[in-house]
Amino acid sequence: MVQLKLVALTLSILWPWWSFDGAVGDPQLFLLKWDCSGFKVPNLSNFYQNLNASLADLRTQVSNQSKIFATAQSTIGSDPVYAMFQCRNYLNNTDCTTCLATATAKVRNCSTGANGVRVIYDGCFLRYESNDFFAQIMPRSSILCGNHTADESTTFSEAGQQVLMDLQIATPKITGFYAATKTQVAGGAIYAIAQCAETLTQDSCLDCLSVEHSSIQGCLPKTNGRAFDAGCFMRYSETPFFADNQTIDINPFLKQGGSSSKKWAIFGGGVGGAVLVVILLSLFLRWRRRSQSPKRAPRGNILGATELKAATKYKYSDLKVATKNFSEKNKLGEGGFGAVYKGTMKNGKVVAVKKLISGKSNKIDDDFESEVMLISNVHHRNLVQLFGCCSKGQDRILVYEYMANNSLDKFLFGKRKGSLNWRQRLDIILGTARGLAYLHEEFHVSIIHRDIKIGNILLDEQLQPKISDFGLVKLLPGDQSHLSTRFAGTMGYTAPEYALHGQLSEKADTYSYGIVVLEIISGQKNIDVKVVDDDGEDEYLLRQAWKLYERGMHLDLVDKSLDPNNYDAEEVKKVIDIALLCTQASAAMRPTMSKVVVLLSSNYLVEHMKPSMPIFIESNLRSHRDIST
Ligand SMILES: *[C@@H]1O[C@H](CO)[C@@H](O)[C@H](O)[C@H]1NC(C)=O
Ligand SMILES: *[C@@H]1O[C@H](CO)[C@@H](O)[C@H](O)[C@H]1NC(C)=O
Ligand SMILES: *[C@@H]1O[C@H](CO)[C@@H](O)[C@H](O)[C@H]1NC(C)=O
Ligand SMILES: *[C@@H]1O[C@H](CO)[C@@H](O)[C@H](O)[C@H]1NC(C)=O
Ligand SMILES: *[C@@H]1O[C@H](CO)[C@@H](O)[C@H](O)[C@H]1NC(C)=O
Ligand SMILES: *[C@@H]1O[C@H](CO)[C@@H](O)[C@H](O)[C@H]1NC(C)=O
Ligand SMILES: *[C@@H]1O[C@H](CO)[C@@H](O)[C@H](O)[C@H]1NC(C)=O
Repeated sequence: MVQLKLVALTLSILWPWWSFDGAVGDPQLFLLKWDCSGFKVPNLSNFYQNLNASLADLRTQVSNQSKIFATAQSTIGSDPVYAMFQCRNYLNNTDCTTCLATATAKVRNCSTGANGVRVIYDGCFLRYESNDFFAQIMPRSSILCGNHTADESTTFSEAGQQVLMDLQIATPKITGFYAATKTQVAGGAIYAIAQCAETLTQDSCLDCLSVEHSSIQGCLPKTNGRAFDAGCFMRYSETPFFADNQTIDINPFLKQGGSSSKKWAIFGGGVGGAVLVVILLSLFLRWRRRSQSPKRAPRGNILGATELKAATKYKYSDLKVATKNFSEKNKLGEGGFGAVYKGTMKNGKVVAVKKLISGKSNKIDDDFESEVMLISNVHHRNLVQLFGCCSKGQDRILVYEYMANNSLDKFLFGKRKGSLNWRQRLDIILGTARGLAYLHEEFHVSIIHRDIKIGNILLDEQLQPKISDFGLVKLLPGDQSHLSTRFAGTMGYTAPEYALHGQLSEKADTYSYGIVVLEIISGQKNIDVKVVDDDGEDEYLLRQAWKLYERGMHLDLVDKSLDPNNYDAEEVKKVIDIALLCTQASAAMRPTMSKVVVLLSSNYLVEHMKPSMPIFIESNLRSHRDIST
């Protein structure tokens, strides 16, 4: 499954020598992230027109209308641009405008035509993409931890844990999704903020902050830390980075379960005189010490860019409670790898718990943990995030992010058949391609999925697709040799060279993807052999698509539940052409998934790219059946 093709990662995070202890009121231009997309837009002149218009729009909103959060979009012609900007709420308008100007210059400094950029400073962030990302969060975050451990490290950690947890809980409930707190601790205070993009829902703000919360916790007991990159922001520091009078009382938003948070509130608000004197004295001493020591150059650790982070180990007992003892009621489904249950963790987070089919050999233990670590480090918005695992006796359990809308087959063939419109289908087609391109080409080992099918594409609340079950083949018990026939994917989706000859490459996923696209467009299952056509032959989906294509009657394939007024016929044809390019008989002729992304995003299919005929062998279907039994 996982081909160990290690590719060096380039560290795309640069940081200048700004002061770490940014004075209150400056624009806080300490750069945390600068990430330029590697994809280039097809039409530069359209793109720059759109980019300039969006950035100008943001500038007007921020500087003339004093907004701290703004989105803008410009979609004239091909190559639209969607842009988002947000200042930390404690910056005044002058500083916020300065931060935007700096971010704008930085964004323009990517290579020509980059179709997406994120730049994150302490004071603000700016991002643009060629698609509408305003409601999206990413299942990963980066952290930057300080390099000094707090003096009273245990008390500092405890207080830090508490305030970060409180911020995670309270911020999504506060209008504007922002909170800033100051918490007294022995010898000082912890200043902390949390912020989400205002275009998120309350739920996705919570999801986003829980991702950041779980990473930023790792910074404690360092005196400061930041978590960013997931679509929201968290920061804490012993040093004030906003004025005391800018804190927000979050207590009203911490309903039950806040016994210890109340403790801190009381501690922070109403301590007796003696304690106060001690605190003030130690603050003073600390301040003296700090002002005497020479100013240090900023330092920090950037984790996650080059090294794999360990996966979370869950306790079996916790998972048992979370899933109500793996009850039937909590069961979400049963897949090739085992049953999946909905679980609610103690902190309220909902997860999907997958109990792998149990094996006999202990040999898999080493493999299990290293594979889980690898997979849990795969972070992409179109891939289901693996949080961690649990081993107990023979049981191997994986804990994943929970997908509210279950899998795509429910929407195409199940209860909600016919409920997806063309735009939504196209988003799913594009998102799935992006997820696969990431697995194949961007993660630092190339991962071939081998079982791409409708049932493995899950949908989030916004109906964005996330691919599940990648990387799992190695976790099956007794699977040492990876005999290709042992795991030949799912009937009808498997590339002929893989099904028949066991030849495996990324292009096998490309083939399965092509079949999935045809299913999404037609609303038909690929292996339904219903109709016998004029020539007296079985008519299954791929054959039908090819025949219609040859006769220039593509549109007859389109799901009848789609309203022809709601899609652009040329666009649908283009996507069918792409699906057929993906299912060509020759693996070499199929496009790579990153190429598919480019083809889908551009307006015209390049002239010379005409699909050649797929293999139609009745024995193809039959041999699938043989293999899978
Ligand atoms: C914003 O804050 C900066 C830094 O403290 C200060 O110099 C500036 O006067 C402030 N601007 C406004 C409009 O208050
Ligand atoms: C970009 O689009 C514009 C307007 O649609 C068109 O005039 C121009 O020829 C295109 N340029 C390229 C390189 O395709
Ligand atoms: C966009 O703005 C940049 C920088 O201000 C400028 O160099 C470029 O010519 C502009 N492009 C268009 C198409 O307006
Ligand atoms: C925003 O303010 C600038 C400078 O004050 C001014 O030139 C510009 O016309 C204003 N833009 C709008 C849309 O009001
Ligand atoms: C833009 O890139 C150039 C060359 O890499 C560099 O010299 C310059 O400082 C960069 N500008 C910004 C604003 O980062
Ligand atoms: C907050 O404190 C600053 C000085 O630190 C002061 O300039 C500002 O007016 C205060 N703001 C409020 C709302 O009290
Ligand atoms: C952190 O500080 C320690 C002690 O001053 C030093 O040895 C270490 O190299 C620093 N680490 C980083 C990443 O700067």
